[in-house]
Amino acid sequence: MPDVTLDTIVNLAQRRGFVFQSSEIYGGVRSAYDYGPLGAELLRNVRDAWWEAMVRDRDDVVGLDSAIIQAPKVWEASGHLSSFSDPLVECTNCNNRFRQDKLDDPEQCPSCGKRGTFTEPREFHLMFKTFMGPVEDDAAIVYLRPETAQGIFLNYENVRRTARLRLPFGIAQIGKAFRNEITPEKFVFRTREFEQMEMEFFCRPEEAEQWHQHWLDARMAWYTALGMKADHLRLRPHDADELSHYSAATSDIEYLFPWGWDELEGIANRTDFDLRAHSEASGQDLRYYDQEADERFYPYVIEPAAGLTRSAFSFLIDAYDEEQVGDETRVVLRLHPRLAPIKVAVLPLSKKDELVEVTGEVAAALRHRWAIEVDVTQSIGRRYRRQDEIGTPYCVTVDFDTLDDRAVTVRDRDSMEQVRIPITDLPAHLEERFAGAI
Ligand code: GAP
Repeated sequence: MPDVTLDTIVNLAQRRGFVFQSSEIYGGVRSAYDYGPLGAELLRNVRDAWWEAMVRDRDDVVGLDSAIIQAPKVWEASGHLSSFSDPLVECTNCNNRFRQDKLDDPEQCPSCGKRGTFTEPREFHLMFKTFMGPVEDDAAIVYLRPETAQGIFLNYENVRRTARLRLPFGIAQIGKAFRNEITPEKFVFRTREFEQMEMEFFCRPEEAEQWHQHWLDARMAWYTALGMKADHLRLRPHDADELSHYSAATSDIEYLFPWGWDELEGIANRTDFDLRAHSEASGQDLRYYDQEADERFYPYVIEPAAGLTRSAFSFLIDAYDEEQVGDETRVVLRLHPRLAPIKVAVLPLSKKDELVEVTGEVAAALRHRWAIEVDVTQSIGRRYRRQDEIGTPYCVTVDFDTLDDRAVTVRDRDSMEQVRIPITDLPAHLEERFAGAI
C-alpha cells in the first residue's frame, strides 16, 4: 500500500485550494465538493487528456453532450428504476445506516461496534428524484441521471445518421452524474454528485470480446501514460454475482488507494441490452442496417466508464511524494506535466519594482501558452516549496542579474536542477522541455 494517508491528501487538497467542502460556510453538505482554482485546472486537464485519447486521437469515436434530465421512461427501459439500488442496513443501537455489501463484517456496526444490531437489508434506490414544471405530482417526476451512458444510447441513431458512422464506432461523453449513495465516503472517492467520462463502443456481436480486450488494454495504458505507477493499477474481472443487470462481462481497473485496492473504472460488455430495451420501449427501431450483408441487428456495446473526479483524486494520490532535502522534508506532487494545474511559476527574487516589472513581461510571454502563476511573497525557497507541493513542473526566477543579462533561471521540479536561459529563448526552451508531454 502507498505510504501516503488519506488525511495527508485531504489536508493538502483543502489547504492548497484543490477541493473545498460544498456550502462550507453553512456547515457543509456531506458528500458534495467544490473544486478550487487548482482543482478546477486539474479536473480540466484530466478531462482534456481523456477527450483527446478517446475522441480526437481516434477516427472511430465521436463526442456528445447530452442533457442531465431525460424522459422518465428512459430509466424504466434501462432497468435503473427497478434495479439501481444498494442493500441498506440500519444499526438499531446507533441508528447509523450502511451499505451492507461494503461492510467489512456484516454482523458488526462500524460506528458503535455492537454486534447483531443490524436490521434486515432493504433495497435503497439510488436515483435523485425531482419535479419538472410547476405541479409537484407523480406525472411531473423526473430523475437526475445516475450515469452519462443513457444519453448516448438515446442519441445512438441521431449520431450514427448525422456523423455517417459505420460499425464499429464509439460515442463518448463527459458530464455530471448523481447517485443518492447510502454511504458517501473517503473524501471525493464516493460522492453523491460526481463527474463521469464514458464511451459506448458499438460493434458487431461476434467482435465484442475482441473489442472488450482492446479497451481494457487502451484504458490501462491511458493511466500509465499520464504517469500513474503501473504497480498501483490492476485489472479485476467481476464475479458473476457482481455483474450489473446489463453486463455479460465487466472488468474493473482498480487503483491501490491508501485504504487498499478499489475501483477506478469499469469496462463492461453491455451486450445489446440498452439498444434493444430502448427499441422495445420507444417503438423506434434502433437496429443497425448492414447494407452489404443486407441484415439488421442490434450492435453490442463495450463501455469504458471512468470517474473524472475519482481519476483526478487518484492522480493526486499517486503523485504525492516526500523527500529529505538537507534537514527539511520536501513535499512534491510529481504530477505528469499534462495534468499539473500550473505549468510554470514566475518568481521575482524580490518585490522591487524593477524585478516585478520584468516578471510581468516574462509571465505575459508565457501566459498564452500555459497556465502561469506569478508569486511574489516570502523567500524564494518557500515559494519553490509551494510550487513543488502543487506539482508545478518549472519555476522561472527573475533576479537582479536579469536586469543586466536579460536571462532567467529555470528550475526543474523533480531534479531541482537550475539552468540559466535568455528571456528571448524561454518560450522555446520550455516548449522543448514540455515536448510530447503537453
Ligand atoms: N455506465 C456505467 C457506470 O456508470 P459505474 O461503475 O457505476 O458504471 C463508472 O460507474 C465510474 O464512475 C466508476 O468506476 C467510478 O470511477 C465513477 N463513480 C461511480 N459512482 C461514483 C460516486 N458515487 N462518486 C464518484 N465517482 C463515482
